[in-house]
Amino acid sequence: MKFDITKIRKDFPILNQQVNGKPLVYFDNAATSQKPKKVIDAEVKYYSEINANIHRGVHHLSQVATDAYEEARIKIQKHINAKNSFEVLFTSGTTFGINLVANGFAQILKPGDEIIVSHLEHHSNIVPWQFACQRSGAVLKVIPMLGDGSLNIDAYQQLLSEKTQVVAVNHISNALGVINPVKFIIEKAHQVGAAVLIDGAQATPHLKPDVQELDCEFYVFSGHKICGPTGTGVLYGKEEWLNKIPPYQGGGEMIKEVTFEKTTYACLPHKFEAGTPNIAGGIVLGVAIDYLNEIGFDNIAAYEQELLQYATKQLSELENIQFYGTVKEKASVISFNFKGLHPYDVGAIIDKLGIAVRTGHHCAQPIMNYFDIPGTIRASFAFYNTKEEIDLMIEALKKAQMMLQ
Ligand code: ALA
Repeated sequence: MKFDITKIRKDFPILNQQVNGKPLVYFDNAATSQKPKKVIDAEVKYYSEINANIHRGVHHLSQVATDAYEEARIKIQKHINAKNSFEVLFTSGTTFGINLVANGFAQILKPGDEIIVSHLEHHSNIVPWQFACQRSGAVLKVIPMLGDGSLNIDAYQQLLSEKTQVVAVNHISNALGVINPVKFIIEKAHQVGAAVLIDGAQATPHLKPDVQELDCEFYVFSGHKICGPTGTGVLYGKEEWLNKIPPYQGGGEMIKEVTFEKTTYACLPHKFEAGTPNIAGGIVLGVAIDYLNEIGFDNIAAYEQELLQYATKQLSELENIQFYGTVKEKASVISFNFKGLHPYDVGAIIDKLGIAVRTGHHCAQPIMNYFDIPGTIRASFAFYNTKEEIDLMIEALKKAQMMLQ
């Protein structure tokens, strides 16, 4: 398909609005993506025509809803190239997926076992592992980062040992946009027999992961960052590992048999899907994935890289700018500050000019501590953004600099 930005922008009703009397420039895509009309319409269609509980009723609507939900699961299976559809679990988002896996490991790890995370993690890929360590007596180890925002891979290899049971790292850093060498990280972890969880929250908006090719044990991501609804997400797990870890939540749907003495669990994926799920969300997430695949991830990646190069060049011409995360392998995310200016002040001024960026620590305080800063200004671009919007941001930043100096 030809990449037609004018046509694509028409798919997103929210983009066609003014904020503070200025055209909205939405550069906070790493926080959440906007939704195309197809996705919005699918949500309305579900509640207008299909709504019923799934896997429970024999009545017509329940069957239609169940079929649509399970078709979405298969769509996601194909999208990430999982071997089996039951290895795809619906979750409420990346955070839930990581907590589910970490909670499982908390019950099977032994004192002295080691879990490795990286300095580049979002808090949601740190705190659940700290919980797991507190509960099991395992020890948390951290892959250090380097000044350009990359991981110190030599140090990673030094950390690995027969004590390492889990390695949990992000595919792409949310705060800096750095793409991590996850294939290599996974291979090395496997050499010591460790399982690997990849946090794909920031990768899935930009690329199509192939979980069999990566060979990771777990891969998690959120629906809302890939044009789907909030409160949706996916946890992929290898069959063997999903069988090995205990269930996270107890309730309806996840059981085989319940007595007061003992409960046996349902087979995959239901063992991990207690209660009525976000049925509409799961189905509509499938629609969002279809939409992205129609545009094509090759097209998305090529266009976003163009935006990244253009924005980096334009921003470099601004006085006193300091970039964070300067490696070559990056997604379309730029983190920066102006010397002497607080990121919040800059963010608040450019908001008045219609520009939406995220400012702060981006739920990645260890990265901010490394650079000894309170936070950054983060502009994150999606395939529906344009160079003209980047120009508007540059003008707004110049005004903010003038006002604050
Ligand atoms: N994790 C999201 C971000 O980076 C919310 O902004």
